[in-house]
Amino acid sequence: MKPLLFSLPGNERMTQALARHLHAEIGQLALKRFPDGETLVRFDTPVDGCEIALVCTLIHPDDKVLPLLLAAGTARDLGAKSIGLVAPYLAYLRQDQRFHRGEGITSKYFARIVSAHFDWLVTVDPHLHRYRHLGDIYAIPTEVAHSTHAIAAWIRANVDAPLIIGPDSESEQWVSAVAREVDAPYVVLNKVRKGDRDVEITAPDLGRWSQRTPVLVDDIVSTARTMIRVAEQLKQRGVTNLVCIGVHAIFVGQAYAELKAAGANRIVTTNTVYHESNVIEMAPVLADAIHGIG
Ligand code: R5P
Repeated sequence: MKPLLFSLPGNERMTQALARHLHAEIGQLALKRFPDGETLVRFDTPVDGCEIALVCTLIHPDDKVLPLLLAAGTARDLGAKSIGLVAPYLAYLRQDQRFHRGEGITSKYFARIVSAHFDWLVTVDPHLHRYRHLGDIYAIPTEVAHSTHAIAAWIRANVDAPLIIGPDSESEQWVSAVAREVDAPYVVLNKVRKGDRDVEITAPDLGRWSQRTPVLVDDIVSTARTMIRVAEQLKQRGVTNLVCIGVHAIFVGQAYAELKAAGANRIVTTNTVYHESNVIEMAPVLADAIHGIG
């Protein structure tokens, strides 16, 4: 598919890169905030009869989702033939079970909302832990672009003799794939999360790999507590060359500075969420996924 692309605010760079890779056009969408906080949506490019895609990475989703749904509703009303969502970072996947009594399984409800407004969804490495694939909760066609090759390529070009480290059992899926591609060993640590900012990591003795460069790879870096705990432990053991790679650079509050201070020698992310640590380009694989969805 080669949809007419529309950027939601803040997604202009990714939209331009996708347009280049897909040889697609970019349409003009205006969103205006009224003084009372409501949103006016206006498509300045006609969408009648068009296959379109809205590009919106879903960091801080609660602020973004209502304008996004209103834009999808407007496009539908104006006669768009199909409406896709390109969300390089797809939010609301971590609450994939009722962890405590009375909690909502918001991943399911969010998937229902998105499925009701869009005809298809493309994203990069969604956080799938207890779900096997997005189709478990999304009722629309979905396509996933993977960052593994791009991360592996970056490691090959920038790190000598890497040791790939996954912070927890969930990470084994991508850590093992990256390690295979760079032909390096990997270890998976043990993580217990006791609260949003309360994470305990148990790292085994990594002494046998002391000649290697530790490369910690995680999908989402949010409070960075997961990476910080690993960095602190390695620092205590005299390791000063830790490389941290995150797919989705959420970095809440001071998380980025705190991770640097904790001992990360280099912090690198993909550009699914715009951040100063972005060095790994996801537009080509995302464009391939969009192309494949039609
Ligand atoms: C775990 O579920 C994820 O794979 C990440 O490890 C987690 O989201 C990282 O969160 P934080 O940066 O807040 O420790």
